[in-house]
Amino acid sequence: MDQPPQKRLYIKTYGCQMNVYDSERMADVLRPLGYGLTDEAEGADLVVLNTCHIREKAAEKVYSELGRIRRMKDRKAEAGGTMTVAVAGCVAQAEGQEMLRRAPVVDLVVGPQSYHRLPELIARAARASGQRLAADFEPDAKFDALPDAREVKGHAAFLTVQEGCDKFCTFCVVPYTRGAEYSRPADAVEAEARRLAAQGVREVTLLGQNVNAFGGGLAALVRRLARVEGLDRIRYTTSHPRDMDDDLIAAHAEVEALMPYLHLPVQSGSDRILKAMNRGHDAGHYLKLVGRIRAARPDIAMSGDFIVGFPGETEADFEATLALVREVGYAQAYSFAYSRRPGTPASAMAGQVPDAVKSERLQRLQALIGEQQDAFNTRTVGATLPVLFERPGRRPGQVLGRTPYLQAVHAEGPARLIGQIASVRIVEAARNSLSAALELEAA
Ligand code: SAH
Ligand code: SF4
Ligand code: F3S
Repeated sequence: MDQPPQKRLYIKTYGCQMNVYDSERMADVLRPLGYGLTDEAEGADLVVLNTCHIREKAAEKVYSELGRIRRMKDRKAEAGGTMTVAVAGCVAQAEGQEMLRRAPVVDLVVGPQSYHRLPELIARAARASGQRLAADFEPDAKFDALPDAREVKGHAAFLTVQEGCDKFCTFCVVPYTRGAEYSRPADAVEAEARRLAAQGVREVTLLGQNVNAFGGGLAALVRRLARVEGLDRIRYTTSHPRDMDDDLIAAHAEVEALMPYLHLPVQSGSDRILKAMNRGHDAGHYLKLVGRIRAARPDIAMSGDFIVGFPGETEADFEATLALVREVGYAQAYSFAYSRRPGTPASAMAGQVPDAVKSERLQRLQALIGEQQDAFNTRTVGATLPVLFERPGRRPGQVLGRTPYLQAVHAEGPARLIGQIASVRIVEAARNSLSAALELEAA
């Protein structure tokens, strides 16, 4: 068979891990058309910006990047070539038409449920050299229509099992940009996991905006995937406290391949704020849940998300958040200043918190989380842990990997360790990485 001519595809990914997965899948859809990935936008035949709408800054970044892309597109046109520019992801979904008006450089806007239609949309955009919009919600069609073949780089891969959200937290755009909750059939997920394992993937992270709301039960899926030969590690993210059921907690005690790390966002420690956020749980419920999870898996590394400066948040509310953080003791966590998102209920609420107050609170929260992260990492010094080595380090003779607790680790060791799980002794801890010495090498 003749190889089609190689065309250069540049994809820039913003936002969450689901976008990372989607970007890989877009490359998979386009590969049979002759598109090969490049790291440089300059000169590319097709540029895809896979965007995020979660906070104002994330969305604004896209427009400044489009300014840069416009100059490249002009340069390519002067040289007699063409560059097609597509905007995908959550900004595309949220702002579709407006984006086409505001940024004439954009040839194509495609929402997260329509990536399987990219070849057709690109062909149409090229023929008409006009602009096309496809931003509809049909997640089932998407997953069925994406190609089976995936090109994976390393030994740890993402696997989307659930998309969308019906929870409508009052601050959040996801229910509008990703649509209603949808779970892929477990059979399809298992088939994809088997193909990944056959390609040398040893760790999968199951992805979903509410991954633990997976239809049929996430625990059952985890137990099934734990039996896939070659898959040694399973993770999942992001979970909602309301969907953390007994079976999933039990799986943390019983399934060896299920890694002891849990990202379980709570957003705030104040019941008043949690109510205004429409989270559907209070701080006590969350703390009780953490207690039950720790009873099942005492060493579990807890992670979370926090928003400071939600409308109406007082100093006392914020202190309740600090108190909750102290009580839980996180291995790491993400925290954000509340960002007002058009169309969400919270954006119209009274009591918007001034920016200066938000950033002051964010600093205090991040300092506390940072201390907890240091403490967690320091506790692992001296321990022997299995590390999945994923890639070469920056310095020659160095390899990089992750502990079961998702800590990044570097060690001096041969490149053949990449793709292996090896026992290492942690010798030093910094906030964002550990250094380790090899003990024994395992298969
Ligand atoms: N589905 C996940 C989170 C998805 S969004 C969950 O329910 O936990 C990732 C994180 O972004 C959220 O947990 C929240 O902390 C943050 N976030 C969402 N909307 C935000 C907003 N308007 N301003 C600031 N942070 C926000
Ligand atoms: Fe957003 Fe809430 Fe849904 Fe998470 S659960 S995606 S924060 S609406
Ligand atoms: Fe952003 Fe969309 Fe993910 S808004 S966080 S890319 S679901």
